[in-house]
Amino acid sequence: MRSVVRGVGSYLPAKVVTNEELAKTVDTSDEWIQQRVGIKERHIAAEGEYTSDLATAAARAALDNAGLTVEDIDLIVVATTTPDYTFPSAASLVQMKLGMNHGFAFDIQAVCSGFVYAVATADSYIKNGMARRVLVIGAETFSRLLDWTDRTTCVLFGDGAGAIVMERVDLAPGEPERGVLTSALRSDGRHWDKLYVDGGPSTTGTTGVVHMQGPEVFRHAVGKITDVVYASLEQAGYTVDDLDWFVPHQANKRIIEGAGAKLGLPSEKVIMTVDIHANTSAASVPLALSVAVADGRIKQGDLVMLEAMGGGFTWGASLIRW
Ligand code: ACO
Repeated sequence: MRSVVRGVGSYLPAKVVTNEELAKTVDTSDEWIQQRVGIKERHIAAEGEYTSDLATAAARAALDNAGLTVEDIDLIVVATTTPDYTFPSAASLVQMKLGMNHGFAFDIQAVCSGFVYAVATADSYIKNGMARRVLVIGAETFSRLLDWTDRTTCVLFGDGAGAIVMERVDLAPGEPERGVLTSALRSDGRHWDKLYVDGGPSTTGTTGVVHMQGPEVFRHAVGKITDVVYASLEQAGYTVDDLDWFVPHQANKRIIEGAGAKLGLPSEKVIMTVDIHANTSAASVPLALSVAVADGRIKQGDLVMLEAMGGGFTWGASLIRW
């Protein structure tokens, strides 16, 4: 039995903010941002447009792409750090907005690694028989967690959502392998204050804003990413040379290029969308996936490595035969 990806979809808010526009309100420049992180522009949610709205739009696109309706889904998992409310979960709101009155729904909070954690979770629920088809969504309105006067963080992030439909497939004897082959997840809470939001219901009772020790995050990122990619490949009996596509978390062009170089991956196999999406946290991997599926790069039979690292620290990878 395998959990196969049957459909992919995404949603980006209409408003685009370029580096030049940001430079009008904060002391930065297009040149600095492009050179240090590779970002040209980001999408920002409109007032009154919430994470569950972005997630619902991406979910509808993924259902259309899969040729399914909400009646076919029995579980919704939303990876997000920016839920509409402290509770209920964004997933419950997506369930309501999709008109789904059966099954179950919950959120996963692993910051930028959330989508990879959600894929691994959905795969487990499918394999243990608790779900047959799962909507796995990464959705964020990260713009709501930013101090727009802090140039060291506000230039890095954007809003958006991506979704996939995962489904149980019972492979016939001799049928080629498909679906999620392995996932490797890690976290290390000793690093919590290298990247965190200084608010929450149990501490300040406020939402808070992002704080980041940028060079420290950078120092940890490449090593942690490559460790978990190797672990995932090894568990499945593959090597880096077998990979067709590497779909990393889109935080930073230099981190992505550093990880790709350390793994020995040719740049043509690395999906890069950080230039047009910026860092959309849990939404970045499914947004990048949806671009590469829509433009025909990722196709059936390809070996695809998803990878992410973020606050916590959390990090993880999922190896999927498309
Ligand atoms: N525009 C212009 N100058 C800036 C900006 C900006 N937006 N931000 C910082 N600077 C300045 C700093 O103030 C500093 O100036 P100073 O030397 O006069 O004090 C100078 O640039 C260098 O600052 P550093 O923080 O040392 O810059 P660095 O070269 O490390 O680049 C960066 C900062 C891009 C954040 C880098 O540390 C990085 O890429 N870190 C990884 C963080 C990341 O990707 N986070 C995303 C979230 S985590 C995740 O998703 C994995």
